[in-house]
Amino acid sequence: MSSFEPCPCVRRVFFLLVALFGVTQLPAVPASSATTVMPLPAVQQFTTGRLAVTPAFSVELQGSADARLRAGLARLLRQVEARTGLTFAHTPAGGFALKSDAAHASLVIDCAAPGSAVPVLGEDESYTLEVTSTEAVLKAPTILGALHGFATLQQLLQADASGWFFPAVRINDQPRFPWRGLMIDVARHWQPLEVIQRNLDGMALVKLNVLHLHLTEDQGFRIESKTFPRLHELGSDGHYFTQDQIRGLIAYAAERGIRVVPEFDIPGHATSWVTAFPELASAPGPYAIERKWGVFDPVLDPTNPRVYALLDGFLGEMAALFPDAYIHIGGDENNGVQWSANAKIQAFIREHNLKDNAGLHAYFNGKVHAILAQHGKKLIGWDEILHPDLTSGSVVHSWRGPTGLAEATRLGFATILSNGYYIDLNYPTADHYLNDPVPADTRLSPEQQKLVLGGEATIWAEWVTPETIDSRIWPRTAAIAERLWSARDVRDVPDMYRRLALVSRRLEEAGLQHASYLDPALRRLAGDQASPAELAALRAFVDLIEPVKHYQRGNQQPEATQFTPLTGLVDCARADSAPGREFAAQVAMLAGPLSPDPQAANSVLQALVAWKFTTVQLAALAARSPRLQEAQPLLTSLATASAVGQEALSVLLSRQAPVAGWLQTQLSRLDEAAKPHAAAELPVIAPLRLLAAAAAEQDKRRTLSPDAWKQHLLDLAPPPVTP
Ligand code: ACM
Repeated sequence: MSSFEPCPCVRRVFFLLVALFGVTQLPAVPASSATTVMPLPAVQQFTTGRLAVTPAFSVELQGSADARLRAGLARLLRQVEARTGLTFAHTPAGGFALKSDAAHASLVIDCAAPGSAVPVLGEDESYTLEVTSTEAVLKAPTILGALHGFATLQQLLQADASGWFFPAVRINDQPRFPWRGLMIDVARHWQPLEVIQRNLDGMALVKLNVLHLHLTEDQGFRIESKTFPRLHELGSDGHYFTQDQIRGLIAYAAERGIRVVPEFDIPGHATSWVTAFPELASAPGPYAIERKWGVFDPVLDPTNPRVYALLDGFLGEMAALFPDAYIHIGGDENNGVQWSANAKIQAFIREHNLKDNAGLHAYFNGKVHAILAQHGKKLIGWDEILHPDLTSGSVVHSWRGPTGLAEATRLGFATILSNGYYIDLNYPTADHYLNDPVPADTRLSPEQQKLVLGGEATIWAEWVTPETIDSRIWPRTAAIAERLWSARDVRDVPDMYRRLALVSRRLEEAGLQHASYLDPALRRLAGDQASPAELAALRAFVDLIEPVKHYQRGNQQPEATQFTPLTGLVDCARADSAPGREFAAQVAMLAGPLSPDPQAANSVLQALVAWKFTTVQLAALAARSPRLQEAQPLLTSLATASAVGQEALSVLLSRQAPVAGWLQTQLSRLDEAAKPHAAAELPVIAPLRLLAAAAAEQDKRRTLSPDAWKQHLLDLAPPPVTP
């Protein structure tokens, strides 16, 4: 292991800190007594007192109580037992012993009616919960509300020196939007049953109520068809859900208050369809399922009656399998190449006065709408289905921008929003959180607003495997769940992050692997020779870096296919680095309008020194670990970031202006350090740019208003532009 000597610059800053502020140690942050629940309930009033949770904790079921309610209760009690280490009373048959007499129970559950056994859109999901020092009473019109109440209780549970308890509280809760979903693409990278099940458990904890399964794609056909078995046999490499598995999944979801909406993407994204039936494509085959990522040409031929025969048979089969009222038909990203190149199709467009390819797409959707209607289903599709000829009653799923949602509602269509909730693109949680389907300054009329049913987070699967998928979905999706459940004015970002850290733990306890996948993945990356200290350094490093955002990974790794192992550095990095965020917050205090905050200066210095130490340790490890070679350029960038930061801090604390040209030199060093490598990047460059600017311009700090000072820094040192 390499030894680490702080550079003279670090010593200088450290002594400056001690001399100026006498600070060497951060005080402990007091524990917050604020709410632990996410999504934030509609009405929540904490009162005094607490309901102790002891081995004598007991439950009484009043009103409607069926197997679904009992199963939900058992899951709650099992979680509480697991967390507290307590054992509650069990029956000889292994279940939890419930109070059936009039004796006082700790938790009383009172459901007025069972509700729909399989949830439906628009069902009453409300509940009330009153916790006093003697009991908790959970009331709900249906079992759906009770299940949500269980999720709230699970998150309210906490402990202090005197033991485990539920805080006394009065909650009156219901969702803002009825459609709160998570779309999982199981086609590009196959995601087996256990991945979906554990994500359903996570969804239930944050009160999401729609699992949208993206089942067919260019890269895979992931559902068994008994009518047309060629579809899954030729389109899946053997990786598909059997119909029995789907029935089990629907039941699993229903037990958790979650609808399952299947998507069969047509007429584009259809390579797997035409792999089985090349004669139904709009250009001659043969076809094979795609292994790469992008938008591809194969598209069904809307002029071919056999296409509708296939769809009628297949969608009829799926309509019988999936109980939900909606079937998603995709409809996105048909690039029109095959249609434009096919003279017969272009003649069809002219003969039927369809105007253009968009008109043909609308014609196709009309036929599909009729097929679905015959099978008792409603149509939902992505943005591109919106057309003056779209059949009324269809739902438009907006993904390309807010204008799609506005336009759809203007034409009278119900919509759901996914634009801004693309969690595969690795943006920070706060960006998703503040993205509101109907923001306060909305231009939608009240009638249009009523047509916005909600939204869905979407995890597209170019870059996720069963091992990493949870880390791309969670915990950020919990913040999207809050956006869709809680009141519009719930927008306190720091409080969201505080609760997100807590709910992230609850999600892990529910079986998700967004945190636990990391240590084995890092051991594999580091190789067998890595020492515990080096592994700790690697952990600190991947905690600090982030995957590149938007669609940049495809540009960084254009050679990747479905077969590329996603076990590299970037697959260990996660969006919205918590240490990166903490560093930015400390820099904001240091570079703010007031004099540099001593504690912030201390934290920033500690971080900068730790980064340098990390780079020294990991350079030694990377020299021995083939898989870590790809980290070298980012380690160099982090060392630069540390050096620039230390210099900036030194200048800032010296209260002396730097030499002419100093800021430009630092900013160009940071530009170099901002470049992504191995599809990962350093989120700390933007705050470091601000720190350098604040140091260079400190003589102006007192002459400018706080807003003008902030703007001045941003003008001098805007965030780095990434390619
Ligand atoms: C999509 O992202 N193509 C719906």
